Amino acid sequence: MSAPPPALPRHLAVIMDGNGRWAKQRQRPRTLGHRAGARAVRTIVEYCLARGIPALTLFAFSSENWNRPEEEVGALMRLFLRVLESEVEELARRQVQLRFIGERSRFPEAIRRRMAEAERIQLPAPRLTLVLAAGYGGRADIAQAARRLAEQVQAGRLRPEDIDEATVGAAMSLADLPPPDLFIRTGGEHRISNFLLWQLAYTELWFTDVLWPDLDEAVLDAALADYARRERRFGLVPEQLASPAPETR
Ligand code: IPE
Ligand code: IPE
Ligand code: MG
Repeated sequence: MSAPPPALPRHLAVIMDGNGRWAKQRQRPRTLGHRAGARAVRTIVEYCLARGIPALTLFAFSSENWNRPEEEVGALMRLFLRVLESEVEELARRQVQLRFIGERSRFPEAIRRRMAEAERIQLPAPRLTLVLAAGYGGRADIAQAARRLAEQVQAGRLRPEDIDEATVGAAMSLADLPPPDLFIRTGGEHRISNFLLWQLAYTELWFTDVLWPDLDEAVLDAALADYARRERRFGLVPEQLASPAPETR
């Protein structure tokens, strides 16, 4: 995979928020908003393919979203299953490598099976890595990394003094991808809502009032244009930035 030009994010992380309000504006059930939201996923995937953005992580369902009314959770599960059934092969055909992060044990068996099937498709040179965060929580991600390292210490394979940012980072989700360069949240809220906490340490944040189902290319163009204008300093002073920025993680 050739490196994208520097002004383009190598990894885009998105909180797809506002489906419920989109439906409410139309006096329709929230479920309809989620269905419209699924269509917007296609928009952003096509956009990344067209622009050469190589990695996209979408927050589809948070660990806290399990606490929504049973009816909404059920509708989301049915939608998730339908989307997996209809899109997985087409994504592979378009050279999109699908992956999932988050706790899967609570998902219905049919969904877990589809996830596993989708992940068995390994593309040798994907144009886009599409990560769906489902049942994901940033704190749980940090906790599982801590647990994994503790197990290694207990097994005598790691010394406590060897635990540093690199070892923790390597035990986190998405350790094999560059950290997100750009974070986008639609729906007007200015918060992270337990999305990628560790991985967003130096990510540029961009917020829009546009509701997720209303996402279009112009919104994404605006986010990328803003991103391209930003100065990422990583703690340095501007004069130091002529030399390449240090890797952060
Ligand atoms: C985001 O939209 C989708 C999920 C969390 C699954 P919301 O359902 O949170 O929509 P709003 O925020 O209520 O409008
Ligand atoms: C964040 O949206 C989770 C997803 C988009 C999947 P929420 O709507 O759940 O977040 P809060 O409740 O506004 O913080
Ligand atoms: Mg919301």
